[in-house]
Amino acid sequence: MRNLLTGLDIGTSKVCALVAEASLEGDLAVIGHGVSPCSGLRKGVVVNIEATVEAIRAALDEAEKSSGVRIGSVVVGVAGPHIRGLNSHGIVAVRGGEVGARDVDRVIDAARAVAIPLDRQVLHILAQQFAVDDQEGVREPIGMAGVRLEARIHIVTAAQSYGQNLTKCCERAGITPAEMVFEPLASAEAALFPEERELGVALIDIGGGTTDIIVFHAGAVMHTAVLPLGGNHLTSDIAAGIRTPLADAERLKVSYGAATGQVVRRDEMVQVPGVGGREPKLIARRMLTDILEPRMEEILALAHREIMRSGVADSLASGIVLVGGTALLEGTQELAERIFGIPVRRGLPINLKGMPEELMKPMYTTAAGLLLCQGAARGLNGAAARYGRLGRLRTRLGDWVRDFF
Ligand SMILES: Nc1ncnc2c1ncn2[C@@H]1O[C@H](COP(=O)(O)OP(=O)(O)OP(=O)(O)O)[C@@H](O)[C@H]1O
Ligand SMILES: [Mg+2]
Repeated sequence: MRNLLTGLDIGTSKVCALVAEASLEGDLAVIGHGVSPCSGLRKGVVVNIEATVEAIRAALDEAEKSSGVRIGSVVVGVAGPHIRGLNSHGIVAVRGGEVGARDVDRVIDAARAVAIPLDRQVLHILAQQFAVDDQEGVREPIGMAGVRLEARIHIVTAAQSYGQNLTKCCERAGITPAEMVFEPLASAEAALFPEERELGVALIDIGGGTTDIIVFHAGAVMHTAVLPLGGNHLTSDIAAGIRTPLADAERLKVSYGAATGQVVRRDEMVQVPGVGGREPKLIARRMLTDILEPRMEEILALAHREIMRSGVADSLASGIVLVGGTALLEGTQELAERIFGIPVRRGLPINLKGMPEELMKPMYTTAAGLLLCQGAARGLNGAAARYGRLGRLRTRLGDWVRDFF
């Protein structure tokens, strides 16, 4: 029997479906894909079920055609400003003088026993580190001698109604959402090198409707956040600023926009389509950057504030990795380096094999990562082993998701 997985990224701008097959050795490789523009979401959240279902169906049809397989269940990305990440910790007494798997389960249960409102559901419980007696920073406590076991965890929760709507959309499109994964966690899986997570890194996914942030240190997730801002705001700023329809504003942004005037010559001119039968006109490209720069500064400054909240902002030795479609905006890296004061690079879905050339772009890291997360949960491609216990806890994510949906 073939070992097939499908990842579905339902974004504010597009739906991307990726089908992958696992080899006998456990390596995942993409065998088909489909991308369809989507207008059913606002700020990462479904607001129009019909439009979303249509886009999902279109992406799935294309993916089924190109892979030659029928898609039944998918791992789907979860996003939106309703998502909250919080840190918690728990302590238990170790039974029998040596930490066993039961003790680890108990300490995680103790740590996750925080008050979570009834209208929210737990998406992920991510272990950060353990302490056995006074020994801190333990990753694999099983087998260690001690009397007290402590766990630090990061909990990601989402609004209940959000999951219900997402499930509804998938079911109407004829598929079952088998797992749900918080999108930046998936993006990180696809775009980051393991060394970066160890040394400390922040990944920022600037999409169409939202900007997601995830901070890693010593291999663990320290902080997560979602901002209700993204590339669509840049487009509407241009539309308002030079009075042009959104579709033209989008084209101008992608072709001539830049995140900072720093990267644009003062005398560069670009042609703007005329509105209402008027002639096209020439404007200075700097006019576009004057509109875009303050908005990008706002987005990056808010992301910076979130990174500061992680408590490890001063020890992000691997700097910042930018993904999402807006990371393609010229000058974004330069502006981000000015704001963060640490090195910034653009991330691509490098960790998944067989990605088609046209999908080797920062907006496809989420879809690729959904497959990698699911692969890790099934014990494929060594990902679970790579993170030791932190990874193994993640593999149980499926149970938790089922608990709460
Ligand atoms: N070359 C480019 N230059 C600037 N912006 C770009 C470029 N290509 C795409 N974008 C912008 O990227 C955004 C879409 O990014 P992406 O596909 O990552 O979003 P999404 O995943 O659909 O949305 P979200 O994650 O916010 O729900 C759009 O605002 C689009 O205008
Ligand atoms: Mg996205």
